[in-house]
Amino acid sequence: FRGFRRDAHPMAVMCGTVGALSAFYHDSLDITDPKHRMVASYRLIAKMPTIAAMAYKFSIGAPFMYPRNDLNYAENFLHMMFSNPCEEYEVNPILSKAMDRILILHADHEQNASTSTVRLAGSSGANPFACISAGIASLWGPAHGGANEAVLNMLEEIEHPKNIAKFVQKAKDKDDAFRLMGFGHRVYKNFDPRAKVMHQTCHEVLGELGITDEPLLDIAVELERLALEDDYFIEKKLYPNVDFYSGIIFKAMGIPTSLFTVLFAVARTVGWVAQWNEMVEDPSQKIGRPRQLYTGETIRAFVPQDQR
Ligand SMILES: CC(C)(COP(=O)(O)OP(=O)(O)OC[C@H]1O[C@@H](n2cnc3c(N)ncnc32)[C@H](O)[C@@H]1OP(=O)(O)O)[C@@H](O)C(=O)NCCC(=O)NCCS
Repeated sequence: FRGFRRDAHPMAVMCGTVGALSAFYHDSLDITDPKHRMVASYRLIAKMPTIAAMAYKFSIGAPFMYPRNDLNYAENFLHMMFSNPCEEYEVNPILSKAMDRILILHADHEQNASTSTVRLAGSSGANPFACISAGIASLWGPAHGGANEAVLNMLEEIEHPKNIAKFVQKAKDKDDAFRLMGFGHRVYKNFDPRAKVMHQTCHEVLGELGITDEPLLDIAVELERLALEDDYFIEKKLYPNVDFYSGIIFKAMGIPTSLFTVLFAVARTVGWVAQWNEMVEDPSQKIGRPRQLYTGETIRAFVPQDQR
């Protein structure tokens, strides 16, 4: 961790530290050995929340908190995030349940970009730590895992419910690259079923924490209403996706925006590891090799450099 700048984005730290696990665990790198594969899988799933919380503590210059064996996975993450050596953080069961739900809902989702990336990297026989690091890189982008962070940035930019109509208009404008973050999905062309659970969880968390006047939630609810009534969004079947509400929940829990995608990576590691194992165990598995079709110019006259 000390090799990183304190102001590094935690996803940059995650790419580096998870990939670096292969430099430490030489006893679980032989992918042809089922015991090695199992140990590497356990290590990855177990260490992700610790590395994520450490990336956060490092960014704020606070001491690392180690996991506790008496806490479950979600509780441990909250403990490592919010405890400090002088004061134990008492884990709120509603928050740990919400965290658990978020982790479960994000655990796997067939061949999304990051999972396919993990498989493609692994298809060459690369070690699992390197493959998961590749998955983290793919997850980082705003069209994939970065969307919940982008949702919150967008809500902050909208600033007030009175500005929503202007932003909806921008999203509909063909000449404007702006899109409503947290809307639309490559696969779900109807409502995202995970968003329903997230919506309910969001209200449970805000109720528990006594947050009734969270302006960002007001904007989120109003934005959802306006977009769902708008012909453009109805025709194109653009519904709120899972990222739309998860950002608000994380914010209410006190998790900084820059850590949202990191949490997605923690959850998705379970799916990545399972998919990687399934692929490596398949005796017919071959290296992935997407083909490329050349559709450019055919014969062109050579133009000397000084005449171009
Ligand atoms: C998720 C996403 C990348 C899926 O894209 P896709 O299935 O390839 O859909 P396309 O990019 O082809 O878009 C289809 C049409 O809907 C429009 N559209 C898609 N998502 C939109 C959004 N969030 N806001 C406004 N318009 C949107 C596109 O402009 C396009 O319009 P056109 O047909 O007039 O050109 C896309 O919906 C998006 O960028 N959403 C916002 C980011 C996000 O929430 N990502 C998290 C996914 S879990």
